[in-house]
Amino acid sequence: MSSSFDAIVIGAGAAGLFCAAQAGQRGLRVLLIDHAERVAEKIRISGGGRCNFTNRELDPRAPQRHYLGENPHFCRSALARYTPADFIALVDLHGIAWHEKHKGQLFCDGPSQQIIDLLLAECADGHVERWQPCAVQSVAFDADAGRYRLQTARGQVEAPQLVIATGGLAIPQIGATDFGWRIAAQFGLKTIAPRPALVPLTFGGQAWAPYAQLAGLALPVAISTGTGKARMRFDEDLLFTHRGLSGPAILQISTYWQPGTALTLDFAPGTDVQARLTEAKRDSRKRVANELATLVPSRLADAWTGEDPGLQRPINEAADKSLAQLAERISRWSLVPEGTEGYKKAEVTAGGVDTRELSSQTLEAARQPGLFFIGETVDVTGWLGGYNFQWAWASAHACAQAL
Ligand code: FDA
Repeated sequence: MSSSFDAIVIGAGAAGLFCAAQAGQRGLRVLLIDHAERVAEKIRISGGGRCNFTNRELDPRAPQRHYLGENPHFCRSALARYTPADFIALVDLHGIAWHEKHKGQLFCDGPSQQIIDLLLAECADGHVERWQPCAVQSVAFDADAGRYRLQTARGQVEAPQLVIATGGLAIPQIGATDFGWRIAAQFGLKTIAPRPALVPLTFGGQAWAPYAQLAGLALPVAISTGTGKARMRFDEDLLFTHRGLSGPAILQISTYWQPGTALTLDFAPGTDVQARLTEAKRDSRKRVANELATLVPSRLADAWTGEDPGLQRPINEAADKSLAQLAERISRWSLVPEGTEGYKKAEVTAGGVDTRELSSQTLEAARQPGLFFIGETVDVTGWLGGYNFQWAWASAHACAQAL
């Protein structure tokens, strides 16, 4: 005996919970299935435990500026129809206190659990049935009946509409799987090769040894990668780690970085370091490292000057060429990362279901009626700072209106 619903949503994360709630509130009988023990684990650990649930700087007229994908315009329709203001209104309705931190990023004052409770309350309002934990063993489409039939650990279930909201591969230890892309492949839909994004970068070997001692040092930088129109630049904080570099600057640029290519770092953005060192050489007898420490943290100044014996002296005795090289490294340090820390440390997966396979209005597969993909399973990747949750809410909303 098979239970029957109007729609089945697989994945009780940000997008799945929101979609199920909205569809349920429209009067549909909705089943939400997740294989994990705990609901929405990623929301719980997000934003350092305070869930950066949206971003106020998202421009409703040009939202694609903060998103990456093979078709950057795909996300516009959903993001324009469900905006950060809409989600803020919902957060306010649930009495959740929040604050703005940095560059439009909105966080809960209290624990992230508040956002999970909001979503569960919205699901309860929509009479959503949730099976969790429950593994989905197979998905089949009966074309004659126009119904999706699922074998699950709790028996067979069917519906004319199936929403895949199983997210990406980041943090496999809390239940991330490639389920969404396997379903896409089963129905003949293309996928853009997934890769870890918003992820720390690693640098190896002897060349990195002098900088490993800087682990723990954080400072504001300008970081860029790519050339011409594809060049991306972020002004954010950088963090040295034992294995490489992290912090918001690196997480942001990692999404745009192509393996084998260089990053360029400016440790004193807005400062003409060459001019400042030349001036100091004229007027000062301080050691080079001490002069440099007026521009960058002293640990960095020591590491940079420590490599060149010609800089281990008062600045007025240093050679012009050594100072010019030092200025170049401070303002335009070019380095090629060895790789990334991978899905274990990534915040999101870039790539996913090819947006050319989906309607930007409804997120339904063009060639497979009744099959929808939302949230991180889709090839839409947001910047750090609440943009990925906003995509989860907006894509879920667009889909739920179409069910
Ligand atoms: P999500 O991953 O939330 O949910 C997928 C669900 O599907 C999970 O519940 C999973 O168990 C389930 N599932 C997977 N495979 C399944 C299967 N085979 N069968 C059944 N169920 C299955 N973003 C942001 O905007 N602000 C922030 O503060 C943060 N912070 C942050 C911190 C950390 C550490 C990480 C890893 C990520 C973030 N993010 C973030 C990113 C954000 O968490 C992410 O973009 C959204 O959770 C994506 O929502 P989805 O619903 O698409 O997937």
